Amino acid sequence: MGPCTVFCILLLPVLWILYALYPALRTKWASVQNLNEKYACQWVMVTGAAGGIGQSICDDLARQGLNVLAVGRNQEKLDELCSRLQTSHRILAEPVIADFSQTDNYTSPPYIEALESACAGKDVGILVLNAGLAQVGSVLAPNARALAAIAQINAVSQVYVVEWFMRRLVAHGRVTSAVVSISSVAAFTPTPLASTYSASKAFVSRFMDGVRPEATAAGIDLLTVHPGPVRTPFYDCLDDQTAKRGMWLVNMWATGPEAVSQAILRSVGRVNNIPQGFVGVWGELAMRVVGTGTVAWIMDRVGLGLIARKERALYVDKFAKRAD
Ligand SMILES: NC(=O)c1ccc[n+]([C@@H]2O[C@H](COP(=O)([O-])OP(=O)(O)OC[C@H]3O[C@@H](n4cnc5c(N)ncnc54)[C@H](OP(=O)(O)O)[C@@H]3O)[C@@H](O)[C@H]2O)c1
Repeated sequence: MGPCTVFCILLLPVLWILYALYPALRTKWASVQNLNEKYACQWVMVTGAAGGIGQSICDDLARQGLNVLAVGRNQEKLDELCSRLQTSHRILAEPVIADFSQTDNYTSPPYIEALESACAGKDVGILVLNAGLAQVGSVLAPNARALAAIAQINAVSQVYVVEWFMRRLVAHGRVTSAVVSISSVAAFTPTPLASTYSASKAFVSRFMDGVRPEATAAGIDLLTVHPGPVRTPFYDCLDDQTAKRGMWLVNMWATGPEAVSQAILRSVGRVNNIPQGFVGVWGELAMRVVGTGTVAWIMDRVGLGLIARKERALYVDKFAKRAD
């Protein structure tokens, strides 16, 4: 084997890794775009606006002069956010109450009506789908309903909202617009104790990829963001004491919510999918290099995997006693 062949063989994996890292590298060094100028619209709609990442997104977009439709469930929190956005950035901000856990036998769920009437008469050109929550627990625990609700809130509702928004954009003849979805690095790997969360995020990521050709044809940029851990109230929902004890590990790698928002401004319309933060970037790369199976094997032996084993033992013990 000549030196040229050896060089080529060694070069191939390097090129492949660079290719895999391209969206992250592109995002890191790209300039922050002014989305007000890029999409020439007056309003942006942000779901989960009162949450950690949602608030940062609202602030960054309002700073660029965009009016904000802030979607969430808590009127008081949204009112507070809107009046702060209006005074700090001199824009218009309106609260929109919508609960994405609602279903309506697969016709149009009630939240679509709420979003539609909030948008009436407004030039809304950007939608950020950020609302979401996690539930940590064993599938053996009696909380299957709560675990299944995660799929409804994180995944199914996004189908309805994207479908409604895209139709609206097309009907209003907007030339260019954007839809951003906040997925998670969990989309790439089975996550013990958070199986419905990671599955819901995988659904959202693949859904966005599948819709992209139609969106592109309609002049709509679709961006999916895959953040690693982010310092927000997101983890307050953990009622599992054992999982809470693992929070130091999450905090060690976590970025601030403003980093996610800045990543969006750098990448929308330039790339389709971006990993975000140290865990997002290297986690995604690891999964591409060693494959989901290997990462799942590792996950099963550290962190949540270990806790899952303890929980399983607990329930197996409980069920065995009940059977006796
Ligand atoms: N924090 C992380 O480590 C991390 C990592 C990767 C991805 N993410 C994703 O980032 C997104 C934002 O999370 P965050 O970290 O900012 O957490 P957060 O502070 O808990 O915010 C979550 C937001 O989702 C909204 N929401 C929850 N359930 C809802 C429902 N049924 N209907 C409507 N809205 C609902 C909440 O609205 P209310 O104000 O009405 O409760 C809240 O504003 C989520 O999609 C999450 O999966 C987070």
